[in-house]
Amino acid sequence: MSEPKLAKREVFSSRNVFILAAIGSAVGLGNIWRFPYVAYTNGGGAFLIPYLVALLSAGIPLLFFDYTLGHRYRSAPPLAMRRAGKQWSEIFGWWQVLVCFVIGVYYAAILAWAAMYFFFSFTEAWGDDPAGFLMGDFLQVAETPGIAFDFVPAVAIPMLVAWALVIAVISLGVKRGISRANVVMIPLLLVMFLVLVIQAVTLPGAADGLNAFFTPDWAALGDTAVWAAAYGQIFFSLSVGFGIMITYSSYLRRRTNLAGSGLVVGFANSGFELLAGIGVFATLGFLMQATGSSMEDVAAGGIGLAFIAFPSIVSSTSWGPLLGALFFGSLVFAGFTSMISIVEVVVAAIQDKLGLGRLTSTLVVGLPMALISMLLLPTTTGLYFLDITDEFINKFGILAGAFAMVVVVAWILRKLPLLQRHVDRVSSVQFGKVWLVLVGVIVPVVLGYILVNEVITKIQTPYGGYPLDVLGIFGWGMSGLVVVVAIVLAFTPWRKSTITEVDEDALDAKYEEIMAK
Ligand code: ALA
Repeated sequence: MSEPKLAKREVFSSRNVFILAAIGSAVGLGNIWRFPYVAYTNGGGAFLIPYLVALLSAGIPLLFFDYTLGHRYRSAPPLAMRRAGKQWSEIFGWWQVLVCFVIGVYYAAILAWAAMYFFFSFTEAWGDDPAGFLMGDFLQVAETPGIAFDFVPAVAIPMLVAWALVIAVISLGVKRGISRANVVMIPLLLVMFLVLVIQAVTLPGAADGLNAFFTPDWAALGDTAVWAAAYGQIFFSLSVGFGIMITYSSYLRRRTNLAGSGLVVGFANSGFELLAGIGVFATLGFLMQATGSSMEDVAAGGIGLAFIAFPSIVSSTSWGPLLGALFFGSLVFAGFTSMISIVEVVVAAIQDKLGLGRLTSTLVVGLPMALISMLLLPTTTGLYFLDITDEFINKFGILAGAFAMVVVVAWILRKLPLLQRHVDRVSSVQFGKVWLVLVGVIVPVVLGYILVNEVITKIQTPYGGYPLDVLGIFGWGMSGLVVVVAIVLAFTPWRKSTITEVDEDALDAKYEEIMAK
């Protein structure tokens, strides 16, 4: 019960550092690698409408929801949910932590590809066949999906380096590790990416690429899968719905303008994402012109888009290597700062749960995660695992987990009005009842509808045409396992000293006092 103990937590040194870290988390592979191909495969320009609707109706409101939970209860998702409710409500916190576990496992691989492609840019290692090089020479993708432990050293080595760096940064803690990495990398990323986009839009043929990107396929708007993709993309990209913002905001000082910070982060992230879309499609336009092919041809490759299209461009212009280095360098910086935030959620949850020190909890989490990642990803079947896991964890991990948490907090624990007063009390901008309606009604209804449709679609049409047993393990099985493990973890006993109950009235009084100062 006693409030002062809740306050014992590392903090970001200032609101600006927090904003940089939150932008560092949000702006990631999701913006540069994922957004362009998801947008392209889901109606091109038409995707922008569901995307913006998703941002305003769910992304930003849930960003505040996550901020408020983390800030008020000052803990990673499981303990935050327990403090907001009961032992069983921890399940919904663990669910999000496990989603981070799964994402972290495959995120490291894309980070490693990007790092390798940074170097490949200088020598144009892919020759005149980037697609063949990616799938064949580099990833050595097996012909049939499954699990093979045939390792690919060119992926395994940079992955190992990535894991070592992530573990090192996190073990240094919030101020010395996470803050510093973001303060250095995010401004650099911004500059690099701006240079890249400016270069891209001035390429000959850029306008054709942008036309393809911004020309709506209106029919796509009637497809719920497109809406699911838009919501999934917004959540993934904003880092909401899977514990990251809950964890980061738990390191905020009590007196912090939450909504103001959220608006900066939300719009910076989407601005960056649109910029990435513009940069990528402008370059694809250039490629269409240079090779005389259509957008369908140059944008082919799904999750390989960035790693096939960009190398082609690098090979087609005299300053291509610079363009490639900027692009893949940006991908590395953006991915690294996000990867830190993803793993931090799991570390913080374990730290809260076991009351371990920073270094020990980082190792307890980081080493097994790295091991699983190193066993499954840098193999000849790693790409299949990545593709299926990314799709399923996005829908049945992030979206379903966010849906469940919102329903529990709003309708079972009935804590939404309390959270609304909390966020409004500490923020410069007030959203009042509008926020309540968005989070309490609109988000659950929309997500519920999308999820039901997603389940039906995925049952009717196996994702990506993969064999059912592979989808059963990597997709459905993994999504189900996340929930089962979450339940087990929720009912595993906490260390006795962990404060699990909060006197909400005393807490409110404390905030009133802090804000009155
Ligand atoms: N928000 C992070 C990204 O976009 C996870 O990659």
